[in-house]
Amino acid sequence: MKISKNMEKALNDQIALEANASNTYLAMASWCEVTGYDGGASFFYAQSDEERTHMLKVVHYLNDLGIPATIPAIKAPSGNYKSLETTLKTSLKNEQVVTAAIHKMVEIAQKDKDHSTYAFLEWFVNEQVQEETKFETLLQKFELIGRDKLAINEIDKILAAEATAPADAPA
Ligand code: FEO
Repeated sequence: MKISKNMEKALNDQIALEANASNTYLAMASWCEVTGYDGGASFFYAQSDEERTHMLKVVHYLNDLGIPATIPAIKAPSGNYKSLETTLKTSLKNEQVVTAAIHKMVEIAQKDKDHSTYAFLEWFVNEQVQEETKFETLLQKFELIGRDKLAINEIDKILAAEATAPADAPA
């Protein structure tokens, strides 16, 4: 089965996006760990692992098509965050960028009449809805619970619970 050069490039770009997302969440996890947000650390370490699985899905998809995946260089994330809320706001923005990239690929697949890649991307479309909702819901906690020390401690506990929540059904 063949896919277009355009699609191939978009999928390789997606590998880089997911790799960078994994690296950014790793930086956030590490920042939470040294700052004393244990729940945030667990949450972001798990999130980083999840992004790596997304990246691997695309790597395997290309390789299975006989198109060797391009493994990219990863950008260094900032690593210095102002607050727990900042990490979650940055995360939501990053996820919105990833969602836009996935939707762009869906459009390419439609244009190419590339039904296989279209079907492959469906999982990612659904995953992004969940990811954005997750971060929106977590950010809402700051409005509901507050931003003082006790409130942040509560939100850190919510993040700990989120980190141990059952992962998405395997795709
Ligand atoms: Fe793989 Fe959170 O996007």
